[in-house]
Amino acid sequence: MDIGIEKIGFYTPKQYIDIVELAQARNQDPDKFTIGIGQDKQAVPAVYEDAVTMAAEASNQILDSDNKSDIGLVIVGTESSVDESKAAALYLTELLNLPENVRAFEIKEACYGATAGLQMAKNFVAAHPDKKALVVASDIARYGINTPGEVTQGAGSVAMLISSEPKVLKLTDQTVYMSRNVGDFWRPTFSKTAFARGKFSNQIYIEFFETLWARYQKEFGATADDFKAMLYHIPYTKMGAKAMRTLDGKISAEKYAQLQTEYQASIKFGREVGNLYTGSLYLGLISYLLNSDVKPDDNLLLFSYGSGAVGELYSAEVVDGFKDNINVQAIKSVIDDREKISISDYEKIFSDSIEDGQSVDPETVTGKFYLKEIKENERLYSAK
Ligand code: CAA
Repeated sequence: MDIGIEKIGFYTPKQYIDIVELAQARNQDPDKFTIGIGQDKQAVPAVYEDAVTMAAEASNQILDSDNKSDIGLVIVGTESSVDESKAAALYLTELLNLPENVRAFEIKEACYGATAGLQMAKNFVAAHPDKKALVVASDIARYGINTPGEVTQGAGSVAMLISSEPKVLKLTDQTVYMSRNVGDFWRPTFSKTAFARGKFSNQIYIEFFETLWARYQKEFGATADDFKAMLYHIPYTKMGAKAMRTLDGKISAEKYAQLQTEYQASIKFGREVGNLYTGSLYLGLISYLLNSDVKPDDNLLLFSYGSGAVGELYSAEVVDGFKDNINVQAIKSVIDDREKISISDYEKIFSDSIEDGQSVDPETVTGKFYLKEIKENERLYSAK
């Protein structure tokens, strides 16, 4: 039985900052941010947006009354959780009118969460071929004003419907993974911003890729020639390129050059948005599918990395007619129809929050789903 992605959707907030303006405000050479880090724009979530509202927006792009009734599993992968107890997936069941006979929960393991959800969904569909699973990656990457990580912030959500009718991507059984307790990046429960040992995190990311690629080749007798493209977790677009550099000299020069060309297609959207944490690999997938000359039956290799750290390297096959099953227009307008804001406005938004007893004027809301109010410390959401 084939299992994989039947539909995939994407949402990012309506406001962004220009990375050159950020560099100027931080007295940095803009080339460091645009070339050295590899970003152009950075999404800025509104005060009423969070992992729940963005997950609802991305999911709403791919769900209809037909496929909703087949859903038996709802997983939200996030490291921007809004509650220590209640799962973001629960809010989704109400906002999206999902059936009650579902398992709904949240997965946390830094940027690996959505991949854990995806693999779990694959197993769920194998056991229940008539059911579908909704897997959503939703995060706000926050390091803080004037920190080294600030240029690698971003926000957004990718929603995937996993079923036995994959119309976008078939997941193969070829996967290798590893876990190790590493202090490269963490966010204690008291903090709204992440702590990172930046250079160390780059090093562990690369080491995990090298280890898993060696293991993948050995276990499955694979070579780079088996893949049209290698897609990476993209916390900033230079990161995947650094990992790919480890292949230089180990594979043919032609293949290496071709993989680099494919990589450029996979980072086009990421340059515009920034880090989605656990959604970054999957935004890279969308970007690749919509901006490359990839063909049905082409094989892709996907590298998922979550600090802390878990890595997984797995393969997938592009399905005939994949573009007809992605709402290209909706995704393009999510990226194109945004408003640039100044660095000082971004700084104000960054420190703003809705407190207990406060509510949001729906007239100020640009999307469909929003945090309506916090009452008795409970977050209450609404759809416009
Ligand atoms: N023109 C062009 N390039 C320039 C330049 C200029 N004027 N000035 C500097 N550069 C280059 C540097 O040479 C460097 O390139 P290499 O990495 O290829 O050597 C690059 O710009 C970055 O410069 P620095 O290393 O000096 O940058 P930094 O010390 O300010 O920090 C960072 C960069 C470590 C990525 C930091 O932004 C950070 O901590 N980010 C958060 C952590 C992170 O994203 N880690 C990624 C792996 S962990 C992960 O993937 C999980 C996750 O999502 C967080």
